[in-house]
Amino acid sequence: MSDNRRYAGALSAIANGIADVWRSRRVQPPELDSERMDGSWCLITGASSGLGFETAAILLRRGANLIVASRSAGPELLRRLRERVVEAEGVRSAGTTPEIEAIPTDLASLESVEALVTELERRGRRFAVVVFNAGAVASRARRTQDGFDEMLQINYLSNHLLATRLVESGCVDLSASAANGRPARFVFVSSEAHRSSPDVPETDLLDIGGYGMRESVRWYAYSKLLLTAFTEELSRLYNPNDETRLTVLTMCPGAMRTGIAGDAPGILQPLIRLVLRLAFPGPEKSARMVAHLASSPRFNSTSGLYFHLSSRKERDARARDPELGARLWRETEGVFADQADRGRVTARPPLSSFSRNGVLRGPLRT
Ligand SMILES: NC(=O)c1ccc[n+]([C@@H]2O[C@H](COP(=O)([O-])OP(=O)(O)OC[C@H]3O[C@@H](n4cnc5c(N)ncnc54)[C@H](OP(=O)(O)O)[C@@H]3O)[C@@H](O)[C@H]2O)c1
Repeated sequence: MSDNRRYAGALSAIANGIADVWRSRRVQPPELDSERMDGSWCLITGASSGLGFETAAILLRRGANLIVASRSAGPELLRRLRERVVEAEGVRSAGTTPEIEAIPTDLASLESVEALVTELERRGRRFAVVVFNAGAVASRARRTQDGFDEMLQINYLSNHLLATRLVESGCVDLSASAANGRPARFVFVSSEAHRSSPDVPETDLLDIGGYGMRESVRWYAYSKLLLTAFTEELSRLYNPNDETRLTVLTMCPGAMRTGIAGDAPGILQPLIRLVLRLAFPGPEKSARMVAHLASSPRFNSTSGLYFHLSSRKERDARARDPELGARLWRETEGVFADQADRGRVTARPPLSSFSRNGVLRGPLRT
């Protein structure tokens, strides 16, 4: 089956997801708890369940101080995470007790993403690593209050806003690499499904909607294609002249038994739970890979890599296309400028200007 059909529908996505996991069963991500992160601050979105929860627990065991952000991030999540870490006995043996904080954040709201960055600035946090893990599969098209497709906003638009605002606000300092030899790092959780995205529209990349349950997996693939193209462009723009100032890594964790199908209709839930239980592994192995990408010194002087499960791969050709990357950046920044006029997001620096960190913003190619 060609790559662009493999994950185009729910059934083929399940079948190919199982096949991918089976093929990679003997390849293990490095289990290096020696990749310590003691004292470094790390931000992770979507740590309340699934892959994010397991990744957060590993990062804590490696000594990272952590901020978790998602809709249900609060004291109960912090309690569950502490329990999970103690269960694994990592913190006690390492002799450090990392700090954990939670900031409730809804990625379906640009205002909420802005509020997250404002709160991080207020707390004076400087992040060595940010894991953009939160994601959703919507069972049908829904509009957010900002006027975008909800799944597109959660999976792509909010990640673009959060990533660029973290740099502009100084919460992620791109000049740090010169000081300590380790550039700040962004790890994005995308999906192999991006290869099965429909063709990109001639006009207005961000204007999608009107799909029902049968097409929702294809539009999930589209949102992940935009995310995967964005991360390539982000890496290009923030690392001019082949100098690594920000390590940008993107990965697909493979099919896992998590809450990702939680928006499917209630009548299908028993069947979905059965399939997940019988066919898919839990998120622990993939979380080890995310934690490796977040903490390994191997990636200190590189950027722009893409991984599937534990292996390096090329993105889909569309996600590597610099023309599409530049167009996506331009259209998204145009949308944010419009939102800034309405007071929903902070005014964007003009395109092709330099940010506070001295990084060229906006498309290099016009
Ligand atoms: N499971 C798979 O087979 C699979 C395969 C490929 C890629 N992925 C990707 O893996 C990542 C993690 O997903 P998962 O499988 O672990 O699913 P999950 O168990 O459903 O976890 C998703 C996380 O995202 C957060 N989230 C969802 N909507 C949000 C919103 N509007 N605002 C803020 N946070 C939101 C949730 O937190 P709250 O509910 O607290 O908001 C939750 O912690 C996603 O990016 C997904 O696309 C998963």
